Amino acid sequence: MTKILVADDNQSTRKLLCVTLEKNGYEVVAAEDGITAWDILKSRSDIRLAVVDWMMPGMDGIELCRKLQEEHKSELIYVILLTAKEGTKNLIEALEAGANDYISKPFEKEELLARLRSGERIIKLQQQLTQLQKLESIGQLASGIAHEINTPIQYIGDNINFLQESFQDIYRLLGAYEQVREQAEKGTVGAELLSKIQDTMKEVDIEYLSEEVPRALKDSLKGVNVVARIVQAMKEFAHHGKQEKTAADINQTIESTITVTRGRWKYVAEMETDFDPELPLVICRIDEFNQVIPNLIVNAIDAIKEKNGEVPEVKGTITISTRRDGDWVEIRVADTGSGIPEKIHARILDPFFTTKEVGKGSGQGLAISYAVVVDKHGGTLTFETEVGKGTTFIVRLPIEQDVSSGDVQDEEAYCNC
Ligand SMILES: Nc1ncnc2c1ncn2[C@@H]1O[C@H](COP(=O)(O)OP(=O)(O)OP(=O)(O)O)[C@@H](O)[C@H]1O
Ligand SMILES: [Mg+2]
Repeated sequence: MTKILVADDNQSTRKLLCVTLEKNGYEVVAAEDGITAWDILKSRSDIRLAVVDWMMPGMDGIELCRKLQEEHKSELIYVILLTAKEGTKNLIEALEAGANDYISKPFEKEELLARLRSGERIIKLQQQLTQLQKLESIGQLASGIAHEINTPIQYIGDNINFLQESFQDIYRLLGAYEQVREQAEKGTVGAELLSKIQDTMKEVDIEYLSEEVPRALKDSLKGVNVVARIVQAMKEFAHHGKQEKTAADINQTIESTITVTRGRWKYVAEMETDFDPELPLVICRIDEFNQVIPNLIVNAIDAIKEKNGEVPEVKGTITISTRRDGDWVEIRVADTGSGIPEKIHARILDPFFTTKEVGKGSGQGLAISYAVVVDKHGGTLTFETEVGKGTTFIVRLPIEQDVSSGDVQDEEAYCNC
């Protein structure tokens, strides 16, 4: 059932709207002033449709639209402004403020319903777009990984070509030696044959080959190891089917995440790690936990880009550290990015809250991370930040958890700043 907010200070209009909409299959949440309407829309991400009176005490419909425009960048809340005001100037003011549609009082029931249906179609389109954007960022990650694999594969290929040619030369030389062996058996090694061997040795440049062949083999093995590491990291990163909690090596998990995301951070930041070598294994759902650190790394990259520019001359730093703190394991992801302004501290964990432009962020990273760390593992997700200096996200997980337990939901995320 589609949920809809109705905000009108006039009791009879509010009632009429509620009855009309409920009769037509909407689940209505009513507010009698603009501030209550704003609080409801801020706290409930399931309401995407609103019919709002223009003139209300406290916060009028226009101001409500403006606030929604400012703070709900990625999540469209479709607002139909209800007003007795007439004229093009008023209509323009309403639309400029961010209202999506406009209907005159007293309203025609059929017209209101038709306008709401049109709003629902637009909301659906926006949801599809968000989905596409998510897929696009998965595509970007995949192409980053492809790029990472491409470089070692290229030099492995070059080395193998070189080895193929070198071995042809070496076989040629071996052929000449074979002739010497055959003639030596007969006791007839002639000067002519010895000089032929000398010539072949010069031609194939045996000294050069004896230096370069081992080097090509060593480099190829290095390349194979790089590819194997990336593939292993991807396997660990994307491993499904491990829904039950198991003992996980968090340091190794983070190492894999760093490898997989390398293509995204290497032009923007230096990656520093400070892992506790004594870190105990943590009982967790590792495939779910694997969503957390990548989100924090991507956020750190975006924050550094915001501060230093898309292609920064000066790289920022991302520092990931782990340590044991009593019965907890603490992971810190620190960046030297833009920091988080105080006015949005309370909102960054909200689903769909983003300050990034359309196509860059959908505001789901921290909401998912919070759900995994806090709800699923009974941990905490907090942050410390200073605008212009950077941000540190702190993930804390209890080391021992009831392996058979379901989700834990009693911990709160909070800000340490
Ligand atoms: N390290 C950080 N530095 C500065 N701001 C941050 C940082 N991490 C998160 N934020 C702020 O919190 C908002 C929400 O982050 P979140 O990861 O949930 O969504 P997103 O990054 O905008 O989009 P998505 O993760 O879905 O691609 C960001 O838009 C940004 O304003
Ligand atoms: Mg994010």
